Amino acid sequence: MIKYLGSKRLLVPAILEIADLLPGVSKVLDLFSGTARVGHAFKARGYEVVSNDHNAFAQVFAACYVGADAEETAAPASDLLLDLQEASPVDGWFTEFYARRARYFRPERAAKIEGIRRRIEDLRLDPDLEAVCLTSLIEAADRVDSTVGVQMAYLKEYAPRTRRPVELRMPELLPGKGEVLGLDALDAAAIEADLVYLDPPYNQHSYLGNYHVWETLARFDRPEVYGVACKRVDCKTRKSPFNRKTEIRGALETLLARITAPHVLLSFNDEGFVRPEDIESMLRARGPFLRLEIPYRRYVGARIGIHDGKGRKVGKPGRLKNTEILWLSSPDPSVCREVAARFGSSEPFSGESFMTAMSRGTRTGRRARFTAISPLEDPDPRKMD
Ligand SMILES: C[S@@+](CC[C@H](N)C(=O)[O-])C[C@H]1O[C@@H](n2cnc3c(N)ncnc32)[C@H](O)[C@@H]1O
Repeated sequence: MIKYLGSKRLLVPAILEIADLLPGVSKVLDLFSGTARVGHAFKARGYEVVSNDHNAFAQVFAACYVGADAEETAAPASDLLLDLQEASPVDGWFTEFYARRARYFRPERAAKIEGIRRRIEDLRLDPDLEAVCLTSLIEAADRVDSTVGVQMAYLKEYAPRTRRPVELRMPELLPGKGEVLGLDALDAAAIEADLVYLDPPYNQHSYLGNYHVWETLARFDRPEVYGVACKRVDCKTRKSPFNRKTEIRGALETLLARITAPHVLLSFNDEGFVRPEDIESMLRARGPFLRLEIPYRRYVGARIGIHDGKGRKVGKPGRLKNTEILWLSSPDPSVCREVAARFGSSEPFSGESFMTAMSRGTRTGRRARFTAISPLEDPDPRKMD
């Protein structure tokens, strides 16, 4: 499981549970697909999926987990991964920049990664097969890196996992083909679908900057780099309006206005650049909506506080909890009500329960709080615990 900020691994059961309750949904558009985990889960459930993300590494994940058809790709990919595992290490550009000038990997691990990447390049594979091999390589690299999960910096001392071998594993492919796009979300919003899942960034941290090494592995384009972190220079120019405090509100409003699909699921966070109340006034323009709130324990850094290079505490711990919010916007208020009742009811859901997933993920064991708002028929928020 790749380390990815904002990955919705724990939310997936709830997202599927809601989608299954919506009438007439067969095609789902995941506009900010990231690791492609959400699209993969939809595909596994039998939905037709279109995945979109503007970063090349995310398109690689989507091409592997959503785009590729297991029936055509799994057997050749499995042979190829065995072959690639034996690729000779290459101590070249990648190793120099990402293991010596910056120390994201031990040099011998970086050379193995580089050797495998070069071999993938030389084989000139069919695009689906290439995506499966690249996904396997990026996931293998992630298991031996020396970061706390983002590539803004690397650890002073190598993390213990950097000693593990670079091991290519077979990604979990699914039968059937999905569609993969690399558009700006604002340009892809109007694509025809029955349900759109929106999981935009909610603060200034750019995914390209945080995962620039994966971008380079995906593109293998020897970019010009800058700074101690050896970030790609295009991190300075390839920006998203969803990372800018002054632009995100307008971008979200435009995005929601462009969506033609009847149902929208939107993930956000109460610490984001846009206040939940402001998002709700945008959603109100679409019709009824339902809000699901999930209290979370915050990431470890926030809980232990900020320390300097010598381990001295230089800042105070931040808030200990935050709230993940999932909105459902649907034209029929009775659908919102049905979803609310399903989540608020004491009866367990089918399959893996949302609450169970949350409790396991956060170890708080707390009940999620759900609020249903139906502006068309019931202007007063009804709280259900
Ligand atoms: C919160 S993450 C999505 C995580 C994903 N749902 C998952 O479970 O892995 C946000 C994603 O939006 C992408 N992104 C940011 N701005 C974008 C834009 N303007 N158009 C398309 N994708 C964008 C980023 O590359 C990132 O992968």
